Amino acid sequence: MECATFAGKNGGQFGNLHAKPTAIMFRIICLWLCAISAIWAATPAEIEKTIDGLLARMTLQEKLGQMSQNAMTGLSSELKEEIRRGRWGSLFNGGTLAEKAEAQQLARSGKPGIPLIFGQDVIHGYKIIVPIPLGQAASWNPELIRQAARMAAREAAADGIHWTFAPMMDIARDPRWGRIAESLGEDPYLAGELAMAMVRGFQGESLSAPDSIAACAKHYVGYGAAEAGRDYNSTWIPETVLRNIYLEPFRMARESGVATFMSAFNSLNGIPASGNEFTLREVLRREWGFDGFVVSDYTSIPEMIQHGFAANPKDAARKGIESGVDMEMVSTSYYDSGPALVASKQLDPKLIDQSVRNILRVKLRLGLFEDRPVPPPPPDAEARSVAQRLAAESLVLLKNEGNILPLTAKSGRVAVIGPMADSPDNQVGTWAMNAAGNVVTPLAALRERLGADRVVWIPGLRDTRDRTRSGFETALQAARSADVSLLFLGEDASLSGEAASRAYLDLPGAQEDLVDEVAKAGTPMVVVFLAGRPLTFHSVSEKARAVLWAWHPGTMGGAAIADALLGTISPSGKLPVSFPRTLGQVPIYYNHLNTGRPPGDDKYTSKYLDVPVTPEYPFGYGLSYTKFTYANPKLSAAQVKLGGSFTFSAEVSNTGGRDADEIAQLYVRDLVASEARPVRELKGFRRLHLKAGETQTVEFTVKTGELAFYKGARRVTEPGTFQAWIGPDSTAGVQVQFEIVP
Ligand code: GLC
Repeated sequence: MECATFAGKNGGQFGNLHAKPTAIMFRIICLWLCAISAIWAATPAEIEKTIDGLLARMTLQEKLGQMSQNAMTGLSSELKEEIRRGRWGSLFNGGTLAEKAEAQQLARSGKPGIPLIFGQDVIHGYKIIVPIPLGQAASWNPELIRQAARMAAREAAADGIHWTFAPMMDIARDPRWGRIAESLGEDPYLAGELAMAMVRGFQGESLSAPDSIAACAKHYVGYGAAEAGRDYNSTWIPETVLRNIYLEPFRMARESGVATFMSAFNSLNGIPASGNEFTLREVLRREWGFDGFVVSDYTSIPEMIQHGFAANPKDAARKGIESGVDMEMVSTSYYDSGPALVASKQLDPKLIDQSVRNILRVKLRLGLFEDRPVPPPPPDAEARSVAQRLAAESLVLLKNEGNILPLTAKSGRVAVIGPMADSPDNQVGTWAMNAAGNVVTPLAALRERLGADRVVWIPGLRDTRDRTRSGFETALQAARSADVSLLFLGEDASLSGEAASRAYLDLPGAQEDLVDEVAKAGTPMVVVFLAGRPLTFHSVSEKARAVLWAWHPGTMGGAAIADALLGTISPSGKLPVSFPRTLGQVPIYYNHLNTGRPPGDDKYTSKYLDVPVTPEYPFGYGLSYTKFTYANPKLSAAQVKLGGSFTFSAEVSNTGGRDADEIAQLYVRDLVASEARPVRELKGFRRLHLKAGETQTVEFTVKTGELAFYKGARRVTEPGTFQAWIGPDSTAGVQVQFEIVP
């Protein structure tokens, strides 16, 4: 970037100090921008030095402006004036590209001349929508998920966005919680691996690249443990569970270099996550060395008043800043109360400098002080191709009685029935507010592939919440006229996501009644679910010959579903979350403790009188159009020294009639430890492609350190006896036993 340096009358660098202040300021700003424009190649020390200079010329109010973020709804004259005087450090979720460019020009030419960072909820795609994160997690494919995040970053950057409030990596064990849809499931290792892939995708090779956007690890921390699955509710998490389960994906995201964190709404053991010094300073800063910045969630700072943790907005501001939340989203406690807190010595101004330093560091790393070019969006076809592949790999085949799937030419006439067969706005799921049109629905894709004459389409219900039966008769007639009925059921997009917890997990509306009615036709039934959470649908699955779980599959979901139903692809997805038989089992998750009376035939064991203790479908479960077997487990040694590693392999065979993918999973159990350990823990996974009849050996090399668990802040592997499995899900597989010795 060319910089004009202004030699003044006296030859000094800053010119005639008696000139109009604005001219002087402009010269100073230009010089700083020149200095900063070389920042991209700067060392960390040089970046800090630059920040020193920026801080030195900011007033307290301007610093508090950097710590303030607002939603952007257009560019009013009032907002322009606010930007000019440094009222906001960030704007989010709005503004056209032109409005963002104008706002940025106002920020850089105003006071203190610090560029804005534009944020956006780019959760699962931006224009082209990929499956909801819970669906993506079912692909167990970090590389493909990285590609999808990369595509979303390119789309968003082309719209002038610098920062996404993603990935969300809250561990979710309770499907009543609507935001399980945005999560990466119940397992910390899988969620962590996939969150790291998303961070790499969003942030690219370098944050300063024009098509890179800063990622945000959210919601820090424990939000998914909301009591009773009710959003925003309290969480009570003992430190061993906090560290070994809920913090673990965030630690992994930190390791992958995530640029920002977002503090959560929930109280954690009585202390709001947005005012929690333990998690925000002790863990995030001192233990993990995080040097980006933390943004609060939407008004979560003043919500500490409702929590009963802050007396008023001023108290909330003090607690937010002292605990380490650097930027306040939407609410204005920091900006309004900061000056009085400092003046009355209730708040150390050094803490404000520290927060502004964290924010400026990320802005500098993003290259915002330079004329960061706006890149072109990716070609639509390229984005759609990635979206379709990810939707296809996220499909989970739960049942396929008599191999009714895939349908063939011999399958004859198809009745497409149900509210989710042709519902583009619902198919893309929650947090898809910028979705481009041209969503490919299952109905459209089936018509395209089978020809309209082979497809009869009856919604049967207006949407998934519809309780009327007026469409049932025509649905029954359609089923009677067909050779197979394809039912598309599930949840409207609005029934999951934020503030969308449900007290029941049954199918909403009259969908179960619709199934009962259609079943009267006696035509073989295949059910495809498009939903944002696990549901309980045992009676439906008993009537269906096959069940395919599609989550909310995004823009290209219909094409992926049709390809699976017609056998172009074989489903390969595996569940990232346990599916309960009934709500009464919740919370239910695979990596549970054994208890002193594990469920068994004896009366006095840990079980229910009315349902089995096992889930309807377990974590890691998913069928294929072929069959896979696991055999011949081999261990490199029966004893492993602490600090060493071992190799565990097994032979996986495709004993069916078609080529397909299988996701082999590695689980381990620490049989005896100073704290009871889970009956299984996922420690590795591998996607294999096996031709019909082929056998491959899958091999995992595991360091003893990977079998560690947290005792407080210390991660320890204790010598003793361990079991390990390689298998198709969390309940099966070939097993070995070994010792770790000191
Ligand atoms: C919301 C969500 C958070 C989102 C933010 C900005 O309340 O909790 O996930 O990123 O506000 O929209």
